[in-house]
Amino acid sequence: MSNAETTATFMAMKGSGYYSKATAGARDTINQATHLVLEAIARLTLADGQAPLRVADFGAADGGTSVDMWRSALMDLRRRAPRRPIEICYTDLPRNDFAQLFRMIHGQTEIDSYYKQIDNLYVFASGTSFHDAIFPPRTLHLGFSATASHYLSRTPRTISNHVHMVGASGAERDAYIDQGRIDWEAMLSARSRELCEGARLCLFNFGIDEAGRYLGSTGGVSMFDTFNELWRGLADDGIITPEEYVNTNFPQCYRTIDQFVAPLTGSSSPVYRAGLRLEHIETRVVRCPYARDFEQHGDAKKFAQSYVPTLRSWSEPTFSAGLAPSRVPAERQEIIDEFYSRYERLVAAHPRGHAMDYVHVYMTCAMLA
Ligand SMILES: C[S@@+](CC[C@H](N)C(=O)[O-])C[C@H]1O[C@@H](n2cnc3c(N)ncnc32)[C@H](O)[C@@H]1O
Repeated sequence: MSNAETTATFMAMKGSGYYSKATAGARDTINQATHLVLEAIARLTLADGQAPLRVADFGAADGGTSVDMWRSALMDLRRRAPRRPIEICYTDLPRNDFAQLFRMIHGQTEIDSYYKQIDNLYVFASGTSFHDAIFPPRTLHLGFSATASHYLSRTPRTISNHVHMVGASGAERDAYIDQGRIDWEAMLSARSRELCEGARLCLFNFGIDEAGRYLGSTGGVSMFDTFNELWRGLADDGIITPEEYVNTNFPQCYRTIDQFVAPLTGSSSPVYRAGLRLEHIETRVVRCPYARDFEQHGDAKKFAQSYVPTLRSWSEPTFSAGLAPSRVPAERQEIIDEFYSRYERLVAAHPRGHAMDYVHVYMTCAMLA
């Protein structure tokens, strides 16, 4: 992938419902923190009336992982403001499978939709990046985003010996941290213009917790190191070129708590000056559901066959984007299939310690009234 290429040109979770089917852990991280959204709603000042209430899910993918949380949140809003029309807007990047999202909302998938359970509800979508303005100023009452803001708007540079910034050091790591700071400020600045006075923003983000843990790195086998070793193995075996190995970098930054909080507390920050304030922050580790099941059933092959698809549901675009543009689709597919089948064989042979435990930083922010 060229460094000039922006994330929006290639990023999408695996489509046709694969993402939410294979990503039970992402749903768990939302469902286990639904109370934070309900508490934020309880703090909203909401008069009843005819004016629409607007809520949004930023970086929603196919919508399947947040549907239970939104059912609870929308029902709560309906109770608080019985007559107000409610608009919900799902946002993601242009390559997202929005058709799948609307099929889910309108009951055409196996997921139980809230759509028919809440009256006077209007569902929309936007393909504009959350680093940019999406809504007119002061028209958003509740914003939500889960497991999305670690995606950077661009890959700032290549990393010589790893595929992810968590394995990088020195100037290579700093470039990702810097892009992470710029994008986080852009996302919060855009929201601070859109949120109404007294509105709330709930952000459940991947991050690095107080103990230095992050996604797939909580004490057992490191998931990102495994990705790196297997991808480099393809280069060692001549299946990909050394350039393709170096050009494969997740456009992601895992931020520390200090990095998350900085724009919301520094009085010179444009976000702070716009009136957005941190109300609540906590970190949580949510156990990998596939590793948890393995502890019960003990079948390594079954574990590998359920675990690796969850990694694939979100990581495939990055590995695919690292391959030379000259490769034809069939060849690309073969390489990617070989990569994930090596991961599956590795887990089946040595299952102990593999887990994609989620490490999240949960934040609630408020716009000054
Ligand atoms: C791991 S998925 C999370 C989906 C869902 N929110 C969840 O918690 O399961 C990350 C999503 O963020 C989207 N995304 C990444 N960068 C984005 C951006 N700049 N604007 C909007 N969506 C973005 C990706 O396309 C992807 O659908």
